[in-house]
Amino acid sequence: MSAEEHTSPARQPHEEQADPMDPSFGSPAPVEAVAATGRPAEAKGASHEGTGTDLRWFIEALRGEGLLVDVRRSVSLDRELGAVLRACEKDGKAALFHSIEGHSTPVVGGALGSRRGAAVALRCAVDELFDRVRTATESPTAPRVVADAPSQQRAHDPVDLTRLPVPVHAPGDSGAFINAGVVIARDPDTGRHNLSFNRMQIFDETTAGMNMNTWRDMDEFLRRAEEQGHGLPFAVAIGVDPVLLMAAAFRYDDGDEYEIAGALRGAGISVVPARTADLLVPAEAEFVLEGEIIAGDRRDEGPMAEFTGHYSGTRPQPIAKVHAITHRDDPIYQTIAGASSEHLLLGASLMREPRLHSTVRLMSPRVVDVRLPGSGFAAYVSLADPRAGEARSVAIAALSFHANTKCVIVVDDDIDLDDPADMMWALATRVRWERDCTTIPGALGNPLDPSSDSDSVQTKVIIDATIGPDRRGDYQKVIYPSVDLRQYLEP
Ligand SMILES: Cc1cc2nc3c(=O)[nH]c(=O)nc-3n(C[C@H](O)[C@H](O)[C@H](O)COP(=O)(O)O)c2cc1C
Repeated sequence: MSAEEHTSPARQPHEEQADPMDPSFGSPAPVEAVAATGRPAEAKGASHEGTGTDLRWFIEALRGEGLLVDVRRSVSLDRELGAVLRACEKDGKAALFHSIEGHSTPVVGGALGSRRGAAVALRCAVDELFDRVRTATESPTAPRVVADAPSQQRAHDPVDLTRLPVPVHAPGDSGAFINAGVVIARDPDTGRHNLSFNRMQIFDETTAGMNMNTWRDMDEFLRRAEEQGHGLPFAVAIGVDPVLLMAAAFRYDDGDEYEIAGALRGAGISVVPARTADLLVPAEAEFVLEGEIIAGDRRDEGPMAEFTGHYSGTRPQPIAKVHAITHRDDPIYQTIAGASSEHLLLGASLMREPRLHSTVRLMSPRVVDVRLPGSGFAAYVSLADPRAGEARSVAIAALSFHANTKCVIVVDDDIDLDDPADMMWALATRVRWERDCTTIPGALGNPLDPSSDSDSVQTKVIIDATIGPDRRGDYQKVIYPSVDLRQYLEP
């Protein structure tokens, strides 16, 4: 679907004059949200009710589930906000920062930092997440173009990226990175929209580095645009319906990735034509940046805290020139701290686990569950009553599902894949190391893994931590019945 096919023009935004003394937008919370229908949503204290399909709704929903804390003390964007976010995420919570030094725009982070948060985003139970993600590609749902776009209520004049409240998250980050922006670009040949995460390091008012791994769609689009002798138009939506973040983490080459977001939401995503580029952008985003990735130009970018838990290096990356910034009245900025649980869950676990599951199920119908914890370099698989040799075959299949996978551990289904102590117990008690552990040297891994050599070659390992059919009957796990302790301790 191309932008020209749609006749409904976006509402003309107010041109906002930048005040050089105030690097912020709008007024501090409380604010009034305006739905895509144009109806003002109900303001509730220092909160932002939403439409059910935007960031404001998600913030309210997380708060309602006790999964978001409000931080009212003033925090600095320079490494303080990132440290507070880390403390919140250890507690399983997102954080809404109401007071940012030098800015009046609130900042939210860690919104998709837990499986519970992701379940709130999809309005489902945690144990339904897997199927919701797995089936998203089976029911692609086209976006719908709307006339009234809150994301285009206001516009910068002149454009100034340094006015956005972009944090320097981790102590060793080389600068401020936009991390939670959904980067939107179209395939130069087919015109399909791709959504992705490409961190943007802010260099000056209109210029940012845009990080693109070599095998990503964005890198491929840019390469083809450069071959055709021009740059690549792009937009970045910041502060969106969480299903757009999930869709951006998807690898989907069969169609338009807005359709994946629509499938996850169960309704077409509201979009409008971008103001300066031939692209459709989310109508309910808090901010939209528009611009072009310059053909044939690269500049050093990084380091930044990566999903591996280490800092990335400094490498030449494409340059993004930003031509327009539009935003809602009183916008909320959204961020994802590098190496946070949110970074890992979105980038390495949640969206990939269904593919791991279907790969290992081809090998065995006795697969019960899978997990890609942490960086996604480890894969866990649990099996119910595996036959002789089956755990090893399943482990080989798991290794082949993604180049990042480096260590596969297969356990019996009495082990809780989400409990590190239970996993360690299985390794410590059930593995006969001389026969249950196999290393595979010389395989392709992730270049960010410190154990990879300069060609990304590394040693993989598979560990069969199942008891094995020959001894299973002799070794039952000790499980006491659970009790409600309050009934025993209350007077
Ligand atoms: C928070 C976050 C940040 C990411 N940053 C980058 C990045 O800077 N560069 C990159 O190439 N991929 C990055 N990724 C990974 C991809 O953008 C993303 O997983 C997407 O699926 C790419 O798919 P595509 O190749 O279909 O576009 C990031 C992922 C997440 C969750």
